[in-house]
Amino acid sequence: MCGIVGYLGFREPLPIILDGLRRLEYRGYDSAGVALNRNGCITVRKSAGKVAELAAQVESNPEYAGARAGMGHSRWATHGEPNDVNAHPHVDCTGRVAVIHNGIIENYAALKTQLQHRGHVFASATDTEVLAHLIEDFLRTTPDLYGAVKASLREVRGTYGLVVMDAHAPEVMIAARMGSPLIIGVGEGEHIIASDAAAIVAHTRQVVYLNDGEVSEVRPDGMRTSTIFDVPISKEITNVTIELSQIERGGYEHFMLKEIHEQPETIRNGMRGRLRVEDGEVKLGGLEHVRDKLVQAKRIVLIGCGTSWHAGLVGEYMLEQIAKVPVEVEYASEYRYRSPLVGKDDVVFLISQSGETADTLAALREAKRHGATVLGIVNVVGSTIPRETDGGMYVHAGPEIGVASTKAFTSQLTALGLITIMIARAKGLPREEANVLTRELASIPDKVARVLAQSDAIKQLAQEFKDSRNFLFLGRGANFPVALEGALKLKEISYIHAEGYPAAEMKHGPIALIDEHMPVVFVVPKDAIYEKVLSNIHEVRARKGQIIAIANEDDTEIDKLADHVIRVPRTYGFFGPIVNVIPLQLLAYYIAVARGTNVDQPRNLAKSVTVE
Ligand code: G6P
Repeated sequence: MCGIVGYLGFREPLPIILDGLRRLEYRGYDSAGVALNRNGCITVRKSAGKVAELAAQVESNPEYAGARAGMGHSRWATHGEPNDVNAHPHVDCTGRVAVIHNGIIENYAALKTQLQHRGHVFASATDTEVLAHLIEDFLRTTPDLYGAVKASLREVRGTYGLVVMDAHAPEVMIAARMGSPLIIGVGEGEHIIASDAAAIVAHTRQVVYLNDGEVSEVRPDGMRTSTIFDVPISKEITNVTIELSQIERGGYEHFMLKEIHEQPETIRNGMRGRLRVEDGEVKLGGLEHVRDKLVQAKRIVLIGCGTSWHAGLVGEYMLEQIAKVPVEVEYASEYRYRSPLVGKDDVVFLISQSGETADTLAALREAKRHGATVLGIVNVVGSTIPRETDGGMYVHAGPEIGVASTKAFTSQLTALGLITIMIARAKGLPREEANVLTRELASIPDKVARVLAQSDAIKQLAQEFKDSRNFLFLGRGANFPVALEGALKLKEISYIHAEGYPAAEMKHGPIALIDEHMPVVFVVPKDAIYEKVLSNIHEVRARKGQIIAIANEDDTEIDKLADHVIRVPRTYGFFGPIVNVIPLQLLAYYIAVARGTNVDQPRNLAKSVTVE
């Protein structure tokens, strides 16, 4: 979602800001802008479209050189369409105060009316613009920007990651956070404020994470922080561990393709030091202190959005069947408003790649309020969810830049597999049985690599289906969520309408859609319900649907029924979905490439959804 970059220091701000915005492009956005403080005057340039279009207008333009401080923003529209006027930064009517903002100001309409009565004239349809006017209004009676921003934020209801500049104070920038991440990179004689570490690591690894309700006054050579109610806070400087190479494409045409191919390694990283194969044991440091709670839990609730919710659906099969604990899987956006029946005997896992998804965070707080033990399964280290949970585990997939989640999904499944084995063992699963599972999990990276080796064949298949208007994905058991994920990947990046269904449910509706133009992807490994899925394949074949089967390497039966077969190695113990989803990721990717869409930044989507 929206991206923030602010720079204050001895260097020219514009190149640093544009580089930062480019590194945040992956989050998804539809317009961009910069504001620079030059000679006590704020110059703003904004543009609908991509950062490249903005850069073409400002790079090598003398009007934007020689600034003392500056900030840039990429906007994902919420209030007001994506155009030049609604893009950030926004300034007040005197041009003194400029703001960039991620989040939503919920009471903006009331504030706007009050400010208009006081003579403020608004230029845009955004909620953000009220902040610029409000701060300027307070500056008339407050001695400095720091005080004026805090006074303003005490009037505001909503969420924000916010950076503010004052034309009269080029040596100061204010950063504030409520529900939308903000990180301050600390350099020698310079500071970079950003919504994501990706915009900072090229310059410094030392960072300060702001918490909700905190405001920092940042200067080139120092900073101070307090709450919006003026209570001083001393902040710790921490080290970001991601490498620059991890957030670059490394020779691949798209980040998504790079991330698909990284999976043998990322899955291995998630298990490293945790899986003791021969002992049939799993050690998870971040869950050790809640081990008893997990073992005694009456129920486990898995909560997430999008792909992370799909991971939860697979987790339900693992945990119920192997760890013998009742599981519920919930959409975070529904859970938060449902007055859920949850309490101290429940363990709630929040599953999130970014650790920042607004709905997932709200669900976390709701479960916590009811006394449940709340735990995270998160990828981004240091993000908000792990900071608010009672414990959890990082999945260690590394930075995921492509908007459509791939490697984070398989890492989430790996994490759920590890948690399952840990609980099962603690509940008395014999070592020999656990050993079968640990060996199976350890074999997954090689099996994934075997599927990746078939990329060329999948690319050819994609050519054949690139003009299809609809797709159906079907699977059963733990492979039903794989079907959902396959459909989601395809619609996200190729814009082809796709639905995922439990294979047997097809006859209760989707079967009406099947004719010779409908491709149907079956995930059909040789498991206990294999024969049942074959019957469903017959039903599609009888109606002339085009059948693509994801089937095991040793399945000879399937060739007689399917038009196309993609082979996957056999996998036992509900870990099959980790392998079976790989061809679906590749199919979606190559179809999108064949259709010429923007694979890494599909239209309208955001990588991390930090608004409701
Ligand atoms: C967005 C992303 C999805 C992701 C979902 C949940 O919609 O585009 O790829 O699955 O948010 O995000 P999270 O970071 O919580 O896993």
